[in-house]
Amino acid sequence: MSAFVLRVVFALLCVHATRSASCPAGCECSEAAQTVKCVSKDLRDIPTGIPTYTRNLFITGNHISRIGPECFKGLDNVTTLSLSNNRISEVESRTFSSLRNLRSLDLSSNQLVLIHPEAFMIHNHTLRELNFSRALYNHSSVTNLSTALRWSSLNGLLGLDLSSNGLIFLPPHIFFHMNNLRRLQLANNSIVSVTNETLLGLEHLEELDLSHNALKTFSKEGLMELERVPKAKLHLGQNPYTCTCGIEPFIMLLNASQERVVDAEQLVCVFPVELRNVSLLLARNLVLGCHHAEESNNLALQTSYVFLGLVLGFVGLMFLFVLYLNRKGIKKRIYETRDACREMWEGYHYRYEIDSDPRLSQLSTSADV
Ligand SMILES: *[C@@H]1O[C@H](CO)[C@@H](O)[C@H](O)[C@H]1NC(C)=O
Ligand SMILES: *[C@@H]1O[C@H](CO)[C@@H](O)[C@H](O)[C@H]1NC(C)=O
Ligand SMILES: *[C@@H]1O[C@H](CO)[C@@H](O)[C@H](O)[C@H]1NC(C)=O
Ligand SMILES: *[C@@H]1O[C@H](CO)[C@@H](O)[C@H](O)[C@H]1NC(C)=O
Ligand SMILES: *[C@@H]1O[C@H](CO)[C@@H](O)[C@H](O)[C@H]1NC(C)=O
Ligand SMILES: *[C@@H]1O[C@H](CO)[C@@H](O)[C@H](O)[C@H]1NC(C)=O
Ligand SMILES: *[C@@H]1O[C@H](CO)[C@@H](O)[C@H](O)[C@H]1NC(C)=O
Ligand SMILES: *[C@@H]1O[C@H](CO)[C@@H](O)[C@H](O)[C@H]1NC(C)=O
Ligand SMILES: *[C@@H]1O[C@H](CO)[C@@H](O)[C@H](O)[C@H]1NC(C)=O
Repeated sequence: MSAFVLRVVFALLCVHATRSASCPAGCECSEAAQTVKCVSKDLRDIPTGIPTYTRNLFITGNHISRIGPECFKGLDNVTTLSLSNNRISEVESRTFSSLRNLRSLDLSSNQLVLIHPEAFMIHNHTLRELNFSRALYNHSSVTNLSTALRWSSLNGLLGLDLSSNGLIFLPPHIFFHMNNLRRLQLANNSIVSVTNETLLGLEHLEELDLSHNALKTFSKEGLMELERVPKAKLHLGQNPYTCTCGIEPFIMLLNASQERVVDAEQLVCVFPVELRNVSLLLARNLVLGCHHAEESNNLALQTSYVFLGLVLGFVGLMFLFVLYLNRKGIKKRIYETRDACREMWEGYHYRYEIDSDPRLSQLSTSADV
């Protein structure tokens, strides 16, 4: 309830504009330059009575916490609006929709927490530049921002600055409808990886700044994303690159497209310590070892199996061959052995019969007689 009352009072404050040629308190107005500046005047709200001729409006360095659609009514001619450094935490629905000619919006250095999904809805896709550098209160606000960016029709946007926001990841499809984006600043965040489909639809991108982040490498997925923006100059310096085997595909890309990566020469390994400060381009040969070592290990193993097989086969063959060569001798030997056995057996048997029964021996002797 109290929030509602506050909102109404706030709306009245904004709407009750005395649209005179005079200049609002705390502002400097120049009709010739069509410019109004309200800079560092401790303003709590967007001032009322901003002249309608205004094209360039700077309300910066104040203590404005919330902005809504009532604040900019009737300012059809504004093309450039800067609300930088105001501690703004909330942007309401369609805040800028009455600014029919707005081309450049600067919300840098604020403390955005609540951003309505339709906050940046502007007719006729007039917006060209959007600056959110240091604009988010903390990383968590990126979800609100991402929704708002996707909901607003920003097909005409050419430049987007999201630097210095402590971003750890980029929400999926955050840049989805910005088909014409040319420049994307993501420098000085804590982005750890560029994930699948993050850069989808940005085929016209000409500049991508990912310097001063927390990238340790580019995975296969990340490299595929970089392929989505073939025309973009890339800034990839000042990241904690980890020069282990996994980084090899990235180094290959670096080597193959040095003209695309503006600061390729400045990319250095940060881990492991033995490779600290070694240029990624030079680390290539050091890192390259792993891949080939693995491959040659495999090869050696395969070779040894084949060799073992060959040796066993050879031994087997030799055995059979020797058997074949000696087949007659063996036959003879077998017969001899058999005969010998038989003789022995018969001899034994005979002797046994004779020894076992004396009567028999007598009988035989008598028979002999
Ligand atoms: C807004 O700009 C147009 C064209 O530049 C001009 O004709 C018009 O007078 C301006 N509006 C005001 C209120 O000055
Ligand atoms: C959009 O642009 C067209 C022509 O370019 C214009 O007639 C129309 O009034 C604009 N709409 C808004 C809401 O500014
Ligand atoms: C965005 O605003 C910051 C701070 O005001 C400024 O340093 C930066 O150059 C701006 N970005 C662009 C793309 O103009
Ligand atoms: C960000 O700020 C919000 C609101 O103060 C807080 O609830 C949240 O915990 C903060 N998130 C982080 C990651 O600090
Ligand atoms: C915006 O942020 C607020 C507070 O952090 C949260 O309650 C709300 O769900 C968010 N809205 C969207 C669309 O993410
Ligand atoms: C980087 O971002 C932090 C906030 O996340 C800010 O305090 C710092 O000034 C930024 N550094 C540069 C060089 O912009
Ligand atoms: C990326 O996501 C799409 C669908 O969201 C999926 O089909 C594809 O396999 C994913 N690619 C990778 C490399 O994860
Ligand atoms: C690395 O780049 C150089 C110069 O462009 C090229 O001569 C060399 O063949 C490349 N090496 C590989 C492995 O791609
Ligand atoms: C890395 O190189 C930079 C400049 O080239 C130098 O200032 C820094 O001390 C070096 N760090 C280490 C650990 O060698």
